Amino acid sequence: MYTQILHLIPLVSLVAGMPQRTGKGKAQQQTAQQQAAKVPQGISQATDGSTIVDATAMINGLPIRYKIAAPAAQFMAASGVPGAAATSPNGTMGVNVLLHGDGGTSFFDFPNQAVQANTMGVVLLAPNANLFWGGGSGLQRTDGVAHAQAVNDFIQTTMPQMVAFNQSNVVFTGVSGGSLLMSGFFIPTQMANYPNSAVMLNCGGMPPQVPFNNANAVISQTTIHFQSTQSELQLLQGSIPQAVTAYEALGTQAGLSTDQINALQTVDNTPTGGHCEFDGQGFVSGVQVMASSYSNVVQPGGNGIVTGIGAPSTGQVKTGVVGNEQLTFVGGRKRDTMERRWVVNGDWVVTED
Ligand SMILES: *[C@@H]1O[C@H](CO)[C@@H](O)[C@H](O)[C@H]1NC(C)=O
Ligand SMILES: *[C@@H]1O[C@H](CO)[C@@H](O)[C@H](O)[C@H]1NC(C)=O
Repeated sequence: MYTQILHLIPLVSLVAGMPQRTGKGKAQQQTAQQQAAKVPQGISQATDGSTIVDATAMINGLPIRYKIAAPAAQFMAASGVPGAAATSPNGTMGVNVLLHGDGGTSFFDFPNQAVQANTMGVVLLAPNANLFWGGGSGLQRTDGVAHAQAVNDFIQTTMPQMVAFNQSNVVFTGVSGGSLLMSGFFIPTQMANYPNSAVMLNCGGMPPQVPFNNANAVISQTTIHFQSTQSELQLLQGSIPQAVTAYEALGTQAGLSTDQINALQTVDNTPTGGHCEFDGQGFVSGVQVMASSYSNVVQPGGNGIVTGIGAPSTGQVKTGVVGNEQLTFVGGRKRDTMERRWVVNGDWVVTED
C-alpha cells in the first residue's frame, strides 16, 4: 500500500530523540520538520464546516506554523480569509489551543477542529527539527521556556490579527510531548496570562521545571485534567504521577481545601491501551475521543463523560486527584514506536504497527 512513498520520515519517538536513518541507500535524510514543510499550507474546510487557515508566523525568531478553525465570519476582515467579517479582535468565541505530541501527528489531524461549547480550535506546530515541543527529548525539554513563550506570544500577538476571539476564554490541550511542555513550562511561566483557564493533559505530564509565576492565583483558578491509560509509556508512568502530586501540592500551598483541589484537578487512567490509546484502539482515534469530549471534561458545567473512551472506563473521567495520585499501570512500552509517518502527495499519513 505504501510502495510509492518517496521519503520515509525518520521515526521520531518520545524517548529516542535522534531520527533514525532510513537506510536502503537513501542519501537524503529529512527531518520531521522538513517533511512537514511539504504539506501545503492554505485554507480548507473543517469537519463541522468551519474554515481552517494553515499558515506560519515568526514569533521571537521561531517559525510557528498554526491552524485556526473558526466560522469564516469570525476571521478578521483584514486577514483576507474568504467570508471574513470581524472588525474587532475582541470576539465572543473561546479558543482551545492544542500542542501535539512528538512528531506532530495531532497538528495534522487537528482533532479539536470542530467548534465545541462556543470554543474554536487552534493547533500549533513545534518549531523544532524533530517536531518536539520543548525540544530536547524524553523528559529533558531543553527549549521549554522559549517554546512556552512562543506559544503565549502567538496567542497574544498573531491570533488577534487573524481572528476575533474572547481573550478571557483561552483553554489548552496537550498530547504527549505537548503535555510535557504544558505542565513543565507553559503553566508555570505563562498561565498567569489566562485567567480561569483549563488544560487537558493527555498522555503526558511532568512537574513544573521552572519557577512558577503567580502560582497561587494560577492554581486557584485553573482546571487541570490528567488523562492516561493503563499501559502508558514507561517513562510517563513515572512522570505523570509526579506531575499530579506536584500540582496538588501547589493547590495545598495556595490554601485550597481538598474539595477545591478535587474540583479543579482530576485524573484518570482507567482505559486499557498503550500510549494515548484512550479508546483502547489506537493513537489517532484515542486522541480524537478525548478531544471530542473536551468541553465535558474541563469546561464549566461539563459532566465529565468521555464518549467512546475504552473499557473498562465507565466514561466518567473526573476523579479528584487527592488520594489518587499513584496511578496503577500494567506493562507499557519503553519507547513510543507505535507510529510511522510519511508525507504522501502532500498529505501527512500515519500508520500504526
Ligand atoms: C479589546 O479589548 C481590550 C481589553 O478589554 C481593549 O483594551 C481594546 O480597546 C479592545 N479593542 C477593540 C478594538 O475594541
Ligand atoms: C469572555 O469569556 C469570559 C469567561 O468565560 C466571560 O465571562 C465573558 O462574558 C466573555 N465575553 C464575551 C464578550 O463573550
